[in-house]
Amino acid sequence: MRLERVAAHVPAGARLADIGSDHGYLPVALMRRGAITAAVAGEVAMTPFHAAERTVRDNELSARITVRLANGLAAIEPQDGITAISICGMGGETIRDILDSDKARLSGRERLILQPNGGEQPLRQWLMDNGYGILCEEILRENRFYYEIIVAERIGPVQYTAEQLYFGPLQMQARSPAFLGKWQRILREKHKTLANFAQARQAVPEDKVQDVARQARWITQLLA
Ligand SMILES: C[S@@+](CC[C@H](N)C(=O)[O-])C[C@H]1O[C@@H](n2cnc3c(N)ncnc32)[C@H](O)[C@@H]1O
Repeated sequence: MRLERVAAHVPAGARLADIGSDHGYLPVALMRRGAITAAVAGEVAMTPFHAAERTVRDNELSARITVRLANGLAAIEPQDGITAISICGMGGETIRDILDSDKARLSGRERLILQPNGGEQPLRQWLMDNGYGILCEEILRENRFYYEIIVAERIGPVQYTAEQLYFGPLQMQARSPAFLGKWQRILREKHKTLANFAQARQAVPEDKVQDVARQARWITQLLA
């Protein structure tokens, strides 16, 4: 379900780089459907790299999907002509670091389809700081976990408020049931954290308390 929703944001006919591809399921599924024209599956670790190679080979797609053992965007070569990059199933900070550490490999014309597991705020901050506008956001619930999908393209200077970076500018407007459910859960956690802070034997630094209290206030306002 999660990867199906990610797949829906890959433009038809794209040349896709799936970074951190693990078994290579996303590029293989898209290629089998004729939804993309070429793909690179990048993996930094040996076991998933071999798993991706096996999936590609078993589906007889070795001529159209290249599997590369590489760290982050180093999997992308200029001659690949990549038009879309997916980075899914990792923390938002990890996705941000992957994008930031090899910016020279981004042409700026690729669509980014990102599925962070937490850490959405620092990822959105990076997107804003690097001129990427958020075109689409989705949140879905699977097996009690909430997953966010962020689709972005470089459009030039873009400005989001602190709340928009925290909640997601488009999600704040759409207010889907999954979005509201996620933030209700997080608000309960913030209240628990504040109660634990109040009972802690050692005083918790005031700025930390204020930070959590501010987040709880924002969420309360959002849900009001
Ligand atoms: C939890 S899996 C997610 C797999 C798949 N993208 C998905 O969403 O189902 C994360 C994968 O990212 C890979 N990975 C983590 N950091 C990476 C990096 N810097 N470059 C390439 N792959 C990375 C890991 O080896 C792992 O296979």
